[in-house]
Amino acid sequence: MVKFVISGGRPLKGCVKISGAKNAAVAILPGVLLADSPCIIENLPEISDVVAICTALRELGATVRFIDSSTVEIDPTNVNSFYVSKEMTQGMRASSYFLGALLGRFNRARVAPPGGCDFGVRPIDQHIKGFEALGAKVTIENGMVEARSQKLGGCSIYLDVVSVGATVNIMLAAVKARGTTIIENAAREPHIVDLANFLNSMGANIMGAGTNVIKIRGVESLHGTTYSIIPDQIEAGTYMAAAVATQGDVTITNVIPKHLESIVAKLAETGAEIEQFDEAVRVKMSVRPRKCNVKTMPHPGFPTDMQPQIATVLTIADGTSIVTEGVWDNRFRYVDQLTLMGASVQVDGKMAVITGVDKLKSAPVKAVDLRAGAAMIIAGLMAEGTTVVEDSGHIDRGYERVVEKFASLGADIHRETENDFIDSLAE
Ligand code: EPZ
Repeated sequence: MVKFVISGGRPLKGCVKISGAKNAAVAILPGVLLADSPCIIENLPEISDVVAICTALRELGATVRFIDSSTVEIDPTNVNSFYVSKEMTQGMRASSYFLGALLGRFNRARVAPPGGCDFGVRPIDQHIKGFEALGAKVTIENGMVEARSQKLGGCSIYLDVVSVGATVNIMLAAVKARGTTIIENAAREPHIVDLANFLNSMGANIMGAGTNVIKIRGVESLHGTTYSIIPDQIEAGTYMAAAVATQGDVTITNVIPKHLESIVAKLAETGAEIEQFDEAVRVKMSVRPRKCNVKTMPHPGFPTDMQPQIATVLTIADGTSIVTEGVWDNRFRYVDQLTLMGASVQVDGKMAVITGVDKLKSAPVKAVDLRAGAAMIIAGLMAEGTTVVEDSGHIDRGYERVVEKFASLGADIHRETENDFIDSLAE
């Protein structure tokens, strides 16, 4: 088990470089399966979700060669399997993207149901609706989701809920289908646009990504490409929130400021001074945060993946804030951990009422999921004393070298594993 140990009370100062976007990477890597020659993917984040997908690609028969820590060459030409087991994807949510990619390549896919962070029920009915509209028969048997068709054909699909995963999966399956597919009520997240740009760079014909109507004209084949992944909006937002929480002064580089607009707007409401440059933002905070209300929504709304981090900042705000979760049924599981640190938060369904306290106090806490883990780091940085965050392996799923990056900003943080603990007993 991985633990992060944080001694709080230091303002973060300096400069941090943001890595490639996790949620773009986990869609683009399975998308490589659709190419008929090798692809080079650049600006890949060094995170465990990327490692898991690369392992699954290898097991499917692809040749995966890291050129350096953030660049990989993948040759998918020898892939001859459409079967992705649970062990291959280690229960990741993004394993579902193998369904769309393998269906698009072989007209057949057999994939273990997706896992991922526990936010209550995480259905895939909209993914299935999309595959069926494209002409596939989808069954769920013996714990596996299977989709197959003779030949996929273009269609019109209206998504009943705005779903990132369904939009990605339908794009992957439809890109080589016969005819034109239209996805209405599509997700508009930056990683959807990134996936479309990647597929277009392979010869696909996708228009409208970034709006709620995406039009995909099927093409016969897709060729290899060299493609660089966009910077991670949520990693950037996390360091921005941490700067505000610690009354610091942090410049966050390698970002696309347009992707950060909703985060900038909310942090500015708390009193942060935020300067935007072409590829950087500087976040400076010199006062106690002011209360503010936040409602998460699909892009361009405030991202749900920043909800735990901003809620944590608001635990020390002057006044009472209301945070409403507009995407997931149950994304407040981390609140119990904040309460252990002295926060005053009342959760009622999808709403949390946060009454600001002067300070958080250190306590042993858990990273109950990826972004909740990021929030616990922020809480530890704000708190008096030493906070131990258990189950921090969740955080490595989505944040590259997180301990090193926070330490480079002056945080007192280090990583301990069970082995370190056993070693220290032996000393
Ligand atoms: C993606 O998950 C992200 N994961 C999540 O980020 C993010 O929280 C989420 O989008 C929302 O932005 C990846 O990109 C790998 P959805 P996804 O389908 O695709 C409902 C992180 O921390 N729904 O957009 O699984 C669903 O229950 C992770 O980086 C259906 O009803 O999310 C939810 O309420 C966590 N039926 C809403 O739609 C479906 O078939 C949005 O889910 C699909 C979804």
